[in-house]
Amino acid sequence: MLLEATGVEKTFRGRRGGKPVRAVVDATLQVRPGDFVAIVGESGSGKSTLARLLLGLLPATNGTVAFDGVPLGQMGTAQRRAFRRSVQAVLQDPAGSLNPRKKVATLIGEVAALHDVARGRDAVRDKVLEVLELVGLTPAEQFLDRFPHELSGGQRQRVLLARAIVLDPRIIVADEAVSALDASVKAGVLALMDDLRRRLGVGYVFITHDLPVVKKVAEHVYVMKSGEIVEEGTKDTIFGNPEHPYTRALLAAAPTLTTSSAEPTTT
Ligand SMILES: Nc1ncnc2c1ncn2[C@@H]1O[C@H](COP(=O)(O)OP(=O)(O)O)[C@@H](O)[C@H]1O
Ligand SMILES: [Mg+2]
Repeated sequence: MLLEATGVEKTFRGRRGGKPVRAVVDATLQVRPGDFVAIVGESGSGKSTLARLLLGLLPATNGTVAFDGVPLGQMGTAQRRAFRRSVQAVLQDPAGSLNPRKKVATLIGEVAALHDVARGRDAVRDKVLEVLELVGLTPAEQFLDRFPHELSGGQRQRVLLARAIVLDPRIIVADEAVSALDASVKAGVLALMDDLRRRLGVGYVFITHDLPVVKKVAEHVYVMKSGEIVEEGTKDTIFGNPEHPYTRALLAAAPTLTTSSAEPTTT
C-alpha cells in the first residue's frame, strides 16, 4: 500500500481547560498509486487534522500512518526525506500559501533546488517552465516573473500544483484546494488534477466539505462526521446508493459544480 492510515486517532487537549477534542477517531484508509481518494465531511469533522496526520505534520495519539509499508515513526533519515518529497500538500488559501514577495519562477524554483531535482540556474528554469506547461499556465515564459497578486485565484492554485509536482510526488494531499474558487474555475482545476493523474500517475487525497464537487473525479470516497469515518465506498456507491443518512444529507447540499464547463482552462 502506498499510503495507509490504520486506526489513527488524534485527541487535542482542550483549549483553556475545556474538554479534550477527539478530532480524529479510529480512522483507517488506503491510497494506492494513482488513486483519487476523496475525504468529505462538514466543517469541524476532522478532515484537516486527518490531512496533517497523513502528511506527518502532526503526531497521532494512536494508530499508525505508513508510506510504502513503513510507519512514519519508524523511518530513518533517508526514508523520511523520500516521504517528504513523495507526499506533497496543496492546502486551502493559495494567497496565504504563496509568499507575496516572490515571483512564480522563485516560488517553484527554490523548491526544485532545495530538493535537488534540478541543479544550476538554467536547469532550474527549464524545470519551472516544464511544470508551468503541465499545469496549463502557458505560454510559461509569461508567468515566470509574475507575483502571486498578479494572478487569478485559479492561476495561483495552478502554481501551487506546479510547486508540488516539480518534486514528482506520488501523492498530493489537497485540503479544500478548490473550495474558494468559482464553479467554472473549480471545474477547470479539478479537470487539471485528473489530467495530471493520468499523465504523471500522481494520486490524490482530496479533501472537501463539498461532496458534489468530487462526483466526476473521485474513485473512492470516505465520509467523515465528528472525527469518524462513517461511510466509505466507491464513487458509484457513495453517489448512487449511500447508506448513511449523513452522506445523503451531504449529497442533498446544492451541487456547486457545473459538469458542462469541466474543460481545463487557465482562468
Ligand atoms: N490544534 C488544535 N487544538 C485543539 N483543537 C483543534 C486543533 N485543530 C483542530 N481542532 C479541533 O478539531 C476538530 C476538527 O477540526 P478540523 O480537523 O480542522 O476539521 P475540518 O477540517 O473537517 O473542518 C474541531 O473541533 C477543531 O476545533
Ligand atoms: Mg479543514
